Amino acid sequence: MYYPEELIEEIRVQNDIVDVISSHVQLNKKGNAYFGLCPFHNEKTPSFAVNSDKQMYYCFGCGAGGNVYTFVMEYENFSFVEAIKYLADRVHITLPTVEVPDEVKRKMDFKHLLLDINKSAARYFYYQLKSDKGKNALNYLNKRGISEETQKKFGLGYSNIFRNDLYRYLSEKYDDKALAESGLVIPEKKVQGEFFDRFFNRVMFPIFDVHNRVIGFGGRILSDSNPKYLNSPETKLFDKSRNLYGLNFARSSRKDSIIIVEGYMDVISLFQAGITNVVASLGTAFTMEQAALLKRYTNNVIMSYDSDGAGIKATLRAIPILKSKGLSVRVLRVEQYKDPDEYIKNKGSEAFNKLLDKAIPSFMFEIEELGNKYNLDDPASRTKFQDEVATKLLGLENELERDNYMEAISKKYNTKKQLLEKVVNEKGKNTGIVTTQKEVKYVKKNNNIDDGITLAQRSILILIANSYDIYKVVKKYLDISEFSNEVYQKVAKEVYETYDNKGKIEPAVIINKFIELEHQNMVARLFNNKVSFENKMQLEKIINDSVRLIKSYNIDINSRVINDTSELQKLILAKRELQVLHISLNDG
Ligand code: UTP
Ligand code: MN
Repeated sequence: MYYPEELIEEIRVQNDIVDVISSHVQLNKKGNAYFGLCPFHNEKTPSFAVNSDKQMYYCFGCGAGGNVYTFVMEYENFSFVEAIKYLADRVHITLPTVEVPDEVKRKMDFKHLLLDINKSAARYFYYQLKSDKGKNALNYLNKRGISEETQKKFGLGYSNIFRNDLYRYLSEKYDDKALAESGLVIPEKKVQGEFFDRFFNRVMFPIFDVHNRVIGFGGRILSDSNPKYLNSPETKLFDKSRNLYGLNFARSSRKDSIIIVEGYMDVISLFQAGITNVVASLGTAFTMEQAALLKRYTNNVIMSYDSDGAGIKATLRAIPILKSKGLSVRVLRVEQYKDPDEYIKNKGSEAFNKLLDKAIPSFMFEIEELGNKYNLDDPASRTKFQDEVATKLLGLENELERDNYMEAISKKYNTKKQLLEKVVNEKGKNTGIVTTQKEVKYVKKNNNIDDGITLAQRSILILIANSYDIYKVVKKYLDISEFSNEVYQKVAKEVYETYDNKGKIEPAVIINKFIELEHQNMVARLFNNKVSFENKMQLEKIINDSVRLIKSYNIDINSRVINDTSELQKLILAKRELQVLHISLNDG
């Protein structure tokens, strides 16, 4: 950080968080907190809380949270340094001019450097599109009906026909190693030390993360040749499987569902037509991580992939993934059109909204697709279909739900409901109900095991941050280094140091120690959690269980990397001692 910590703290103190946030979000006072509609996800009832005492905000819906710096970073899409400048300016504090020393520059978090490179590239492409050289690309976008306003909103650009102009532009500011890691340039095979641009003569689509930061690009060729789209490779910044195109807009669209489409153009066309709750998985198979990401912002998704066979297959594959994260899934078919983009261009937004209302539950979609595989006019084939349907129905655990689907299916396929019911019940008797739901539960449980160690660290941190007495006891047993989670370890260090210097724990101050938005969110989440217990005995149990888990995890990790026998023996001993460890709150 280029500015002294005291100054950063002074700026924070002078910018009251309620003041700052209420100029963007309408807040109502309730008790000692203020509530409003979260600007970072869709909601109709307020779960966004701003606490004046703690000088923190937190959304109980999506988990966004932090101090006043976090808010402006998240709301205005600022970096930490930009947030400092903005808030200093707001309270008329003049910042010292600092020359960023070369050494600091080099040390600057690599991720920030890559973000910077991507941002510069996006600006360059945007400029190219508006320049003389970009005429063809601009024409292309106009022909596809993308307005100037939409182009700007999505930061669309153009990579021109020169082989290495982007490289030359960027290399004035960044070194070759960083540029190569950004994926925007590729080393020449024949000439060492030379690079050419990954993208040329393409319309450029910057890919944003949820915080509106450019993390990669897609580039579309202007003609019909192949490959149609070229994308940034995986980088330290860009992990295709963990991102959804358009989520930065969709998250604040104030709708209670999110539509999932395949491509860049689907998102953009729908957005332009006023349908802003859309994200694209960008042609890759839908992942667990993407489903988890969506679940942060909504409970309901509507899949609207391309109408071709590949789109249907991808939909069928994505449904169980989405459901396993607890999302309710509907499917929208764009009738005879190729994709939502083509549909909306031909039929307009009103028709699309009507179609949205008719989106069918994913279960019905699966049945329909099953039906399409059979010739339902042929008795033998039809029987097979019905048998498969019965098997699928058996997979529904909820009896009411099962009954409703039996009703719907028997109507749609002209089968007697009672008959269907009988077959389902018989199947149940024969097989003992095995459901896909069971697998889901198993996955969930597994996640919890992985998370146990994180949970233990979190519980301990919450407890010690809220009580000096507990801290006094715990610090005798737990070293800062034993917090294996990097962020939590840093928080532990702050808490330990603050207490040891006779200070008071102030969450907003601790948040300042983190530059990354995600980390600030994580710390805010920590301080907004409570550990609940009914009496002292229960509290002691939580502390003992957590400390034991943390310590035994560390021992296991260490034993994996140690070869020395005497060291190993020490660990075995430590593990044995752990079994009889008992922390009493009275020995503080
Ligand atoms: P589509 O081929 O359906 O693209 O691929 P589209 O969005 O309809 O494209 P237009 O309308 O012809 O411009 C869906 C998505 O799959 C990825 C892209 O993210 C695309 O938006 N894709 C497709 C690629 O990455 N590379 C390709 O060559 C093709
Ligand atoms: Mn498409």
